[in-house]
Amino acid sequence: MPPTRYTAIPTSTFAAPVSRLMVNLMVLTVLGLSYLLWNHDKIQNIIVEIKQHNLGVVKTIEGCPLHQPDDANSSFVTFIIPSKGRDSIDRTVHSLFNQTRNLWKAVIVFDGEQRQITSAKAGYLSDPRITPYTIPKAGKANFAATLRNYGMSRVTRSEWFAFVDDDDILSPEYVSRLLEETQINTLVETVIFRMSEPRVLPPRNHVMFQLGQVGISFAIKRYLFEDGFWFKPSEIEDFNLLKCIFDFNKKMVISPYVTYYVKGWRPGDLSVEYPRINLN
Ligand SMILES: *[C@@H]1O[C@H](CO)[C@@H](O)[C@H](O)[C@H]1NC(C)=O
Ligand SMILES: *[C@@H]1O[C@H](CO)[C@@H](O)[C@H](O)[C@H]1NC(C)=O
Repeated sequence: MPPTRYTAIPTSTFAAPVSRLMVNLMVLTVLGLSYLLWNHDKIQNIIVEIKQHNLGVVKTIEGCPLHQPDDANSSFVTFIIPSKGRDSIDRTVHSLFNQTRNLWKAVIVFDGEQRQITSAKAGYLSDPRITPYTIPKAGKANFAATLRNYGMSRVTRSEWFAFVDDDDILSPEYVSRLLEETQINTLVETVIFRMSEPRVLPPRNHVMFQLGQVGISFAIKRYLFEDGFWFKPSEIEDFNLLKCIFDFNKKMVISPYVTYYVKGWRPGDLSVEYPRINLN
């Protein structure tokens, strides 16, 4: 009688399917992992697109390196650029492309059809970060307020609005300095940057912004616009809006940083330090 030899049979008939199962699982795992490795880029793109979708940005941003997380988040700040179609706008937009943080979008509002045709030569108008609009000519004087209000009314997803005129340029750090101010004071609702024209405003010794000593170099939370803080056409529309925001007790800061160069004027003396002043 061959005794013990056959006792192994039940075990092995049981063991065989188990080990087959294990092998199958291993093969599947290896196949799965290699699929993930081979398609890594594609999967990352899908993740990025989903993230953008959550932000309300449905279109894929072409030409941007999708592996940089920053690029999925371009709605931190939207720059509003009112334009008469001056050639200098090329430089303004170039200073946006120069930003060290890619967390921005821009809306250009052209004043009148004819102007846009002039400026539309610029290829950047098709950059997915930039949305151009043209509105009927808003008039000869103080048109910028109307154009800025229109631009803001077209944007629903940005956390901040910032402003730059079509003959001025921004320092490459504008966006990163705005981010910095919001990290230092998470409640801040308006950030006033220093502008160089070429003297720096607001001046170093001022503890409050004043008429004629402050300009369009500021950023506001988008919800302030929704709450009714609009530009009112006037020669002092920048100051008036800031004054209104101040009077309503909104949290404001005058930043130490010079980030806005009027007509491209960079500050003469870069070593001067300015204070950070919290208002309200
Ligand atoms: C998006 O911007 C916010 C600032 O509003 C920042 O806290 C967040 O880390 C950014 N996310 C990405 C993916 O860069
Ligand atoms: C953009 O950056 C380049 C390289 O730093 C600089 O030469 C150029 O002046 C900048 N352009 C604008 C408009 O800021």
